[in-house]
Amino acid sequence: MSKSFRDNPVLGSPLLNRMGLHAARVCLAHLLNWLRATTLAPLVSQGHRAEFRRDGFVVIKNFLPTEDFAALEAQLRNCKGEVRECIQGDTLTHRILLDEHCLDLMPVCRVLVDNRRYERLLKYCAARLKRPLYYVQSIKNGHAAGTPDPQKTLHSDTFHPTMKAWFFVDDVDADRGPFTYVPGSHRLTWKRLKWEYWRSINCRNLTDGYSEKGSMRAEPFDLEVMGLPAPKVFEVPRNTLVVADTHGFHCRGAAVPGATRLEIWAYSRTNPFNPLPGLGLRVFNRLECMLAKRYWLWLDERARRRNTLSSWHPVPTDRMSGNS
Ligand SMILES: [Fe+2]
Repeated sequence: MSKSFRDNPVLGSPLLNRMGLHAARVCLAHLLNWLRATTLAPLVSQGHRAEFRRDGFVVIKNFLPTEDFAALEAQLRNCKGEVRECIQGDTLTHRILLDEHCLDLMPVCRVLVDNRRYERLLKYCAARLKRPLYYVQSIKNGHAAGTPDPQKTLHSDTFHPTMKAWFFVDDVDADRGPFTYVPGSHRLTWKRLKWEYWRSINCRNLTDGYSEKGSMRAEPFDLEVMGLPAPKVFEVPRNTLVVADTHGFHCRGAAVPGATRLEIWAYSRTNPFNPLPGLGLRVFNRLECMLAKRYWLWLDERARRRNTLSSWHPVPTDRMSGNS
């Protein structure tokens, strides 16, 4: 509702957006993100800052020492904790939220989650001091018959900068749905702003299922209009960390049916109009995990009353694809 052009009559108003409402909130969100990120600049090296600001992503291969990675992989191939699954289009995704309880069950995961370089880079890229939410995530492509996976269309997650990170446990080649990103597409250039402005006026009437909800889709023609390059496909070996600003245009690449990839996925999104990066107290992270779990339980209960399954419903742990 909060970012939906279709459901929010103010944000979706053609008149207000013609007067510049959407363009103004995009500009303000980018300005405040820049302010928060600048405050957090000492967290990371000058090289990574420059890379992230220029491209919208940072890629670090061989992130963990070999022995640490082997121990982490062994633990992740025998996951513990509550697994939830979602089917989007023809893709099956499994996730385990790495809250404190789950980190106790899988203590080697703490090697990554408590890695200082990892945590600092993610906080800088998120422009927020609070820890991201971490998940073990497994993606199985072409699992079900149905519509194409909507994550395979180039899109921007929302109207403001936002961080997602993938630490790949499997090699990701062209057949495994590699992360794909348009370099530099996170920057608010004049051409991007004009595209956002014109798109916003009629966005509530679009029917691709996502743009009208605030996650704008982009076709090759749109990239041309914005003066953006072709998307880059991240074919990367295991033990690679990719951190991206998913306000930039990105998607999951093509995959052969049945191909899976296992990863630790992190996600952080803040109030885009908050000028402060926060305090980073762990208690807030625990609270966020608790609220997320309560919300899922509420959705489960609501779905049960309708005699159906919630979109992220629990499944037995051994269903986690990628488990050995
Ligand atoms: Fe996305």
